[in-house]
Amino acid sequence: MTLEVIIGPMFSGKTSELIRLVEREVYAKRKGAIFKPALDRRYSVKEVVSHNGLRYDAHSVVTSSRGIRKISSVVDGDGLDVIGVDEVQFFPTGVVPLLDRLAFSRRVIACGLNLTFKADTFETTMKLAARADRVRYLSAVCVVCGQEASRTQRLIGGEPAPKESPVIAVGGKEMYEPRCRNCYEPPA
Ligand code: ADP
Ligand code: TMP
Ligand code: MG
Ligand code: ZN
Repeated sequence: MTLEVIIGPMFSGKTSELIRLVEREVYAKRKGAIFKPALDRRYSVKEVVSHNGLRYDAHSVVTSSRGIRKISSVVDGDGLDVIGVDEVQFFPTGVVPLLDRLAFSRRVIACGLNLTFKADTFETTMKLAARADRVRYLSAVCVVCGQEASRTQRLIGGEPAPKESPVIAVGGKEMYEPRCRNCYEPPA
């Protein structure tokens, strides 16, 4: 089967696309499920939710080797044919060999952020993409100029967040904006 990776900045449609692809498989009578990191409790613990309100049931798993083992045991226990993973950037790189191995006999679709708010690469997303059979690279609309956005700006009080702020900060429109490479302001 295949390993597919959906990459892009925030608001680029990764979660919506993941839901669409997994839902189609379920209509085709294949057994699919979506996993997401337990730390992302933005809208729901038991569902993935897109910025435009699409929702789909999900298994919340911790972002540690215990969570990675949990994915493996649910896949085997439930006999899944299709495995979706949202927010893959939050998992340690140890998830990469698992998903790569599962893709020999199943369809694995993972989505993740390309870059942190500092425009550093998210290692897990990029290591997974390098092993993928197919990569969908999505863009959002730059909120400043309307061009295609490839970066995510984190704002605190309307100003770019300083580079010392933690890499992980779960949030939505109140603190993040998709921007193109010209409008993105690197943190000072
Ligand atoms: P992701 O998981 O990549 O953050 P979602 O699938 O959750 O993306 O949300 C994508 C939706 O976000 C779009 O369909 C659109 O309705 C909404 N959206 C809000 N702001 C923007 C923007 N600046 N550019 C593109 N889509 C946006
Ligand atoms: P999204 O890609 O589905 O919009 O979700 C991305 C999540 O990642 C959101 O909760 C904000 C978070 N995030 C970080 O923790 N650090 C970052 O550097 C960026 C850009 C986003
Ligand atoms: Mg998403
Ligand atoms: Zn722009």
